[in-house]
Amino acid sequence: MQYKQPSRRLQSSELTSGQLRWQSPSNIALVKYWGKFGRQLPSNPSVSLTLEAAHTDTTMAYRPGRGGVELLLDGDPQPDFARRTQKYFTSLAEELPWIAQFDFTVRTHNSFPHSAGIASSASGMSALALCLVDLERQLTKSPSDDTVFFRRASHLARLGSGSAGRSVYGGAAVWGKTSGLSQSDDEYAIPFSEELHPIFRGFHDAILLISRSEKSVSSSAGHGLMEDNPYAPARFTQARQRLNHLLPALRAGDLETVGEITEAEALTLHALMMASAPPYLLLEPNTLTAIRRVQTWRKETGHPLYFTLDAGPNLHLLYPDIIAEAAKTFIRSELLPLCQEGRYIADRVGPGPVRVSMLE
Ligand code: PMV
Repeated sequence: MQYKQPSRRLQSSELTSGQLRWQSPSNIALVKYWGKFGRQLPSNPSVSLTLEAAHTDTTMAYRPGRGGVELLLDGDPQPDFARRTQKYFTSLAEELPWIAQFDFTVRTHNSFPHSAGIASSASGMSALALCLVDLERQLTKSPSDDTVFFRRASHLARLGSGSAGRSVYGGAAVWGKTSGLSQSDDEYAIPFSEELHPIFRGFHDAILLISRSEKSVSSSAGHGLMEDNPYAPARFTQARQRLNHLLPALRAGDLETVGEITEAEALTLHALMMASAPPYLLLEPNTLTAIRRVQTWRKETGHPLYFTLDAGPNLHLLYPDIIAEAAKTFIRSELLPLCQEGRYIADRVGPGPVRVSMLE
């Protein structure tokens, strides 16, 4: 089984029923993917740390059918998600010619509240893609080593949501061709955990839930606006250069360089949104207040705590385990008052997806 090799339609005797379950985490990008072309290919390479606490648990039941999809989130039918998943499955007809020979019931659960303002697409799409590749391996009895299995899962996941392609690996992952890594590819992400300095393996990510409201502009609309953004060409060059500086710093355990690039990337991402036509703003006043407090605390204490942002107002605080106690005290006293209902998610870099075995 090659990551891209077309699979085949099945004989009717091969059509079975069963279910598969995967738990897959979210990730936080240090160099951001923002802008795409062709079939969900990235305009620049990106790197992320894989999280642990924020994950999606997906059970996919399958039976002979005609490509129907039913989706339940926490036991409740979700017609909108079902339609999106159905569209995604249909879009995979070339990669998975057998997909229309089954009906699916997808039961999914996010470890974080749906309304937390945390994107579930990376964890959700990667969990689903892992179920599909796992099913394919069983159905076609095609031997595949782990490298090919996860590359294929990453490839399918990124067709659903670009950043999801990086969630199939623990530790850290790089997606997109970069001169710094010969194996890197636009079609799928590759693992970077082996090369990660140990200080980043247990890195903390405290996700401040500054606002839990729906984003006014979705990520896919945001990617689309990069097409006419006059700064886009310079941005893509800059992201390549930053990744070239960041990867050696991740290997060397150079916290300061990693922190500086990570913060610059977060602000660049939002600057690109503000420079789109039409311009838009996803930051909240409390996001800026929190950033100021982080900068002041770092200056006063010398502790290596850095921020980043996704496409939303919630601030991610990254720090090594050695300052965990001091960081938590600071977060509780100075930052939680800025969060909606005083809430945050205490996450950290994790080992990646887990296949949950089921009595089938
Ligand atoms: O995976 P998408 O299409 O939702 O895009 C995500 C983009 C960012 O989260 C803003 C950056 C990234 O690289 O994860």
